[in-house]
Amino acid sequence: MNIEVFELERTQSLWENTVSYNLTETGIHPFNLSELLTGEERDHLIKTRLGYGQTNGSIELRDAISEMYEGTDRDQIMVTNGSIEANFITLWTLLEAGDELVLMLPNYMQLFGAARAFGVKVTPFYLREDLGWQPDLDELRGIVTSRTKMIAVCNPNNPTGAILNGTAMEEIVQLARDAGAWLYADEIYRGAEFDRRETPSFYGRYDKTIVAGGLSKAYALPGLRIGWLVGPHDVIAETWKRRDYTTITTPILSNEIAAIVLRPDRRARILERNRNILNENLPLLTEWADSHPGLFSFVPPLAGGMVFLRYNLELNSTELVTRIRKEKSTFIVAGDCFGMDHRLRIGIGSEKEYLRAGLERISESLSEMR
Ligand SMILES: Cc1ncc(COP(=O)(O)O)c(C=O)c1O
Repeated sequence: MNIEVFELERTQSLWENTVSYNLTETGIHPFNLSELLTGEERDHLIKTRLGYGQTNGSIELRDAISEMYEGTDRDQIMVTNGSIEANFITLWTLLEAGDELVLMLPNYMQLFGAARAFGVKVTPFYLREDLGWQPDLDELRGIVTSRTKMIAVCNPNNPTGAILNGTAMEEIVQLARDAGAWLYADEIYRGAEFDRRETPSFYGRYDKTIVAGGLSKAYALPGLRIGWLVGPHDVIAETWKRRDYTTITTPILSNEIAAIVLRPDRRARILERNRNILNENLPLLTEWADSHPGLFSFVPPLAGGMVFLRYNLELNSTELVTRIRKEKSTFIVAGDCFGMDHRLRIGIGSEKEYLRAGLERISESLSEMR
């Protein structure tokens, strides 16, 4: 099977650990265990036997996740190795060659590339900057047909940080319902909202809905590699069947930690810390962009540790980020990774001084170029 390069992940894998300032991350400065757990909890981890654990996720963890989605039980939850596995396994379970996937763009490009490799026809619908990164609903109505097998969204969205408004959510649900299509929502940035109001989930609005969540972004714990799927019992059972062929299980220690993290009081504290970081850093990025008059414009993000900027230079985005990386050892993502040249994605979830220093390096590079 041929598969196109997943540019976004590939360039990050190649360079993120080689630079002084990596501003490609869309999550928030990760926790370490001493910040996250009590001494007693750490002691419990040390004594945990490093067995396989339960392959679809520990009961305690699935119960904790199911608590967050009203009306679900633990058998509607599949714990995955990051949300990336949740996305992959859903695609593999529900779509086959010749099916049509109507996919929100711009997006984390995993589903785009993987679906095409499976022979799925990917029909994009676009978030539009002139609509504040909302979709044009008339356009969307013309795209979803009875041939559509799945509509997939990323909400809150990577790379724009946009959140679908209520009308757009309702319309997407209605279109899926009318087409009898699956509705798949990657909701990994839920919980990382600047205004501290949790984005409503698509889950529970329509019986053919599956959502993905995870601890990598809003919870600042990507190293645990914990994601999840929530869906109808039969779909989750089917994903488990495929799981037996892929990674068997998620690490037992990650299950233990995740179950603690998702206790309501702990969860609230974590999200609070993370939203504070984002709210401190966005003004820094905005001031920095404003200090380059006429160069940058962007719609302020509503969630997630990233800003998606348009820049006013003749230079191609891959060339621009390559120059900044080589000259200033600072790494940001080119709009080309999303098929949108003349844009940059800059991660704003890191520690403030690190972000400030990285942005200064970018400024130096820009003024040398000009
Ligand atoms: C929208 C989206 N989904 C999934 C992933 C993969 O996340 P994870 O680290 O949980 O596998 C990412 C990572 O950037 C993402 O942006």
